[in-house]
Amino acid sequence: SNGAARAGKSRNIIEKMEEQDKNCVVFYGSQTGTAEDYASRLAKEGHSRFGLNTMVADLEDYDYENMDKFPNDKLAVFVLATYGEGEPTDNAVEFYEFIGGEDVTFSEGASAEDKPLQNLKYVAFGLGNNTYEHYNSMVRNVDKYLTKLGAKRLGAAGEGDDGAGTMEEDFLAWKEPMWAAVQEDMGLEEREAVYEAVFEITEKPDMDAEEDEVYLGEPNKNHLEGAQKGPFNANNPFIAPIAESSELFTAKDRNCLHMEINIAGSNLSYNTGDHIAVWPTNAGKEVDRFLSIMGLADKRHMVITVKGLDPTAKVPFPSPTTYDAAIRYHMEICAPVSRQLVSTIAQFSPNDDIKAEMVKLGSDKDYFHQKVIDRNLNLAQLLEILSNGAPWTKVPFSLMMEGLVKIQPRYYSISSSSLVQKNKISITAVVESLHKPNTPHVVKGVTTNYLLALKQKQHGEPEPDPHGLNYALTGPRNKYDGIHVPVHIRHSNFKLPSDPSKPIIMVGPGTGVAPFRGFVQERAAQAKAGKNVGKTVLFFGCRKKEEDFLYQNEWGQYKEALGDNFILHVAFSRDGPKKVYVQHKMEEWSEEINKLLEQKAYFYVCGDAANMAREVNTLLSKIISKHRDVSEAKGEEIVKAMRASSQYQEDVWS
Ligand code: 2AM
Repeated sequence: SNGAARAGKSRNIIEKMEEQDKNCVVFYGSQTGTAEDYASRLAKEGHSRFGLNTMVADLEDYDYENMDKFPNDKLAVFVLATYGEGEPTDNAVEFYEFIGGEDVTFSEGASAEDKPLQNLKYVAFGLGNNTYEHYNSMVRNVDKYLTKLGAKRLGAAGEGDDGAGTMEEDFLAWKEPMWAAVQEDMGLEEREAVYEAVFEITEKPDMDAEEDEVYLGEPNKNHLEGAQKGPFNANNPFIAPIAESSELFTAKDRNCLHMEINIAGSNLSYNTGDHIAVWPTNAGKEVDRFLSIMGLADKRHMVITVKGLDPTAKVPFPSPTTYDAAIRYHMEICAPVSRQLVSTIAQFSPNDDIKAEMVKLGSDKDYFHQKVIDRNLNLAQLLEILSNGAPWTKVPFSLMMEGLVKIQPRYYSISSSSLVQKNKISITAVVESLHKPNTPHVVKGVTTNYLLALKQKQHGEPEPDPHGLNYALTGPRNKYDGIHVPVHIRHSNFKLPSDPSKPIIMVGPGTGVAPFRGFVQERAAQAKAGKNVGKTVLFFGCRKKEEDFLYQNEWGQYKEALGDNFILHVAFSRDGPKKVYVQHKMEEWSEEINKLLEQKAYFYVCGDAANMAREVNTLLSKIISKHRDVSEAKGEEIVKAMRASSQYQEDVWS
């Protein structure tokens, strides 16, 4: 399903551009919202600096058979994130399959050999993560396909690396030479950039937030009318009751939550190994800070309407709403602030001294790093420090809506088996507060702390809330009885073998154990039902036996069902004089691992992508090389082949 089709709108991008008098379209393939944000920023900049008539387009809203007719005085921009194992983002699947298709044909019947896209001029930027094997494969492949079809790229294709933490800087460094190439090719003059608002915000003092039909956090009209309706998906979350919640452990600054989300009656379904998306609410403390620095504290419950000043601008949340609700439920106010946004806001500083500082922060990368990135500041925290808490009343609210990403759901690996609990989804999440050395604020995970607050409310616990996070838990998202959380499901390819007699090896330290708790739960149930279940080997690692040994009291019960076929290896990293990691346990067990792999065991890794998953991959090549008496290069090749055939599967995050 897709936006344009739902609304019965045209899927013809060329027609749309003609109609709206646009000469530049910025397409995005986005999963977590960053690519979408970069796309809007490019569209704005192309307009304000170079006078291009730009529009932003979701890749899934259009068809591409007519790209051979794309006029050569127009420009297409592609901002493409690579997802997981080198896959396109959900909204880019159709485009990707079309443009890379072996026998791609266009409207006039032209096929690839005819170089049908000779008129198409484009630029491209990719968002990737070098800790994954298929680094930036989306932009690399699309660039290759377009070139092969005869299209002409202006400037170099850019690549941003989230793994190195340089995404923003890679983007900024790429776009200057890109704009120079576009300017030259299209004969554009650079002009003094003036800010033009994308959205019109109208205050409605006569309306009442409680009495009139006003959105106070409801994601859409059905929710507003108090009767949510499916299908529930990434555009329409299900506000699900939390059936149970508990803490698996509590240590200094760390809690681990276990939650059971009830999806009965929603028509949502999941399979063991899938992900659940959780839609967060911002902490009251940060909402207050933001309102106050914008000078909106007294007007927080003012009803506002929002409309796009340009017909192609998508309003990022339903309207009418209030400032409070827009900020609390829809704007990613806690994310690290971007250098470009600081640059743009500079002109609206409260005085010239502050403006000079903002300009410096916006233009000096190292200075920005030192003053903002290293201190983990979000936008309001930065503005607050610079003005000593005085409000920045000149900043247009539209600029905030344009400059901040719309709030994104967070994905968790489901820790239950769909065979065992079809309608109850488990989440296992560690709640962390980071006390970083140079950071004036405690850095708190938005969603995990929100879940913790929900758990505390469910148990009627007085919120210890040492940092005064003050989540709103009685709002419209909880107008149904009980404690709720908005969710949807994302299906994954991280799956048990369909034949339960196949052996499996799982490696999941920390909360990386989440999907494996589901796997083992499922295999235990199958064994109990009399099925022939193969060897089930789990490598788990944590700090201390008495501290964070997740599901310690459950493994015994699975062992009862699975007998000697279930083997649990645990590595405690902080119990003894030396760190013991899952890799050490794997080495001790290397002969058995190799034997199982030769019997076609599936091998799974879940957890930290940057270090653990990489090291496990390398170690496995070594184990294979040692026990099969082949070279290390051959061992690597074998592991690669295992990945290609899905015998080796990863569910990793960074
Ligand atoms: P540590 O924090 O004591 O170093 C879950 O987070 C467990 O994974 C902890 O015991 C943690 O140990 C461990 N861990 C940290 N880095 C790791 C790595 N690179 N490989 C495997 N385990 C790691």
